[in-house]
Order: sequence, then structure tokens, then C-alpha cells
Amino acid sequence: MGRNFFVGGNFKLNPTTRAAKQALVKTLNEATVDPSVEVVIAPPALYVIPLRASLRADFKVAAQNCYEKSSGAFTGEISPEQLVDAEISHVILGHSERRTLFHETSEQVAAKTRAAISAGLSVILCVGETDKEREAGQTKQVVESQLQPVIQVLNEADWSKVVIAYEPVWAIGTGKVATSAQAQEAHADIRAFLSSQVSPSVAENTRIIYGGSVNAGNCKELAAQKDVDGFLVGGASLKPEFIDIINAKK
Ligand code: G3H
Repeated sequence: MGRNFFVGGNFKLNPTTRAAKQALVKTLNEATVDPSVEVVIAPPALYVIPLRASLRADFKVAAQNCYEKSSGAFTGEISPEQLVDAEISHVILGHSERRTLFHETSEQVAAKTRAAISAGLSVILCVGETDKEREAGQTKQVVESQLQPVIQVLNEADWSKVVIAYEPVWAIGTGKVATSAQAQEAHADIRAFLSSQVSPSVAENTRIIYGGSVNAGNCKELAAQKDVDGFLVGGASLKPEFIDIINAKK
């Protein structure tokens, strides 16, 4: 089984008006894209339902986070079951902004991943090291420590519902993209880790996408790397160049 190229657009806390959101949808809906690419758009929670209603059917919609409980007294949270009921197919979990600004631990990310998959969602699971960790030669160790709790709670079949996003924190929103060699090395290490800790077949079939300052200018070289199966795009997903990134393999 081949690994279909996967491109996610993470709008983060953007845009700030419904009119601007509609303009983004118009650009996406009118774009000519490689039909073999799986495209998933993650707007702010407020917009997931209207986006699903107005976005072209061949693009999927993701939430940027969810809780691990299905319902109850958890003010401010959204459950995986509610997302499934709203016909949302994906959720981003463990984004570095959730880990750093909102203090989510890898164990919480694992619990959310378990709950999301049990409810029927697919998960874009984010991992990645800080600049200090990279400088200290700890990239592999940090990423493995983020993956390990998830590995503990998933069974082999669950991995067909997971896309791993390798997002070095130092590259996110900084304009400082990882070199293609750095991305390839980290992705190959993740694949080897999956092979030893889960199974060779899961390692072979799981998409590992790169995120961090991807733009129209650097996407082709990154996309040409053997273990780079797509992108998770922040800033550039709000611009027309996102279409070029979707078509990076063309
Ligand atoms: O989820 C996306 C990543 O955080 C990358 O963001 O493309 O703005 O660097 P960026």
C-alpha cells in the first residue's frame, strides 16, 4: 500500500472574521489540485461546522483539538463524539502550541488520541523538539518520548487512523524551515521507531508529514524526500500559495 501525499492547513486562531474565512474557502474551492493528495483544513472550532458545509467535498475538515471525554461538566471543551456527529473526520492533537502554551503532556495527548480514534476520528498527531533540545542532540529522544505514550494506548489497527506531523518547534512560524536533510533524518528516525515499537507494516504505511515554515518556495524539495509524506501548514495555509503546497509533488 502506498502512502498518499497528505497536506493539512492549520488556520490556528485565524482569521478573525467570517468574511475573511469565506474568502479563504472561495480560494480553496476554486483551486485546481492534484486529486491524489489528501487535503484537510483545520479552522478554529467555531468554524468547523460552517466550513464543512461550504468547503468542496474532496477536502476534509479537522478540529485543532478535542477533549478525551465524550460529554459532561468540562466547560470549554469539545468531544470527539461531537466532532463525529458534526461530520468532522480529523483532529489535530499535540500541536506544540497546545503543549507549550496550554501545558498538555504527552500522556494527555495519548489519552485524547485514544478517545478520538475510538470515537471514529482520524488524528494528526504532532511531535517535535525545541531548538535547545536539537542543539543538545536530543531530537530523537524527545520525539520518541512524545510518541511512546501514544504507542502504549493504540493497537496495530488504530495506526491506519494516524498521521504523524513532525514539527520542530524552532521552525514553527519562524520562517526558519528545516533543511530537507534535517526533515528526512527525523522522519526516517520516526519510521524506524514505529517499526521497532509497533510493527514494520505500520512503519511502512503511516504517513509522516512535516510542519514548520513550509511555503511555496521550499515545499518541492521537502516533498521529494523519501520519508516526507506531506505537510502541516500554518501561516501559508492562509494564503493562495497553499495551493502550490498541495501540488508540491506535481
Ligand atoms: O501546524 C502548523 C505548524 O505549526 C506550522 O506553522 O507553517 O506557520 O510555521 P507555520
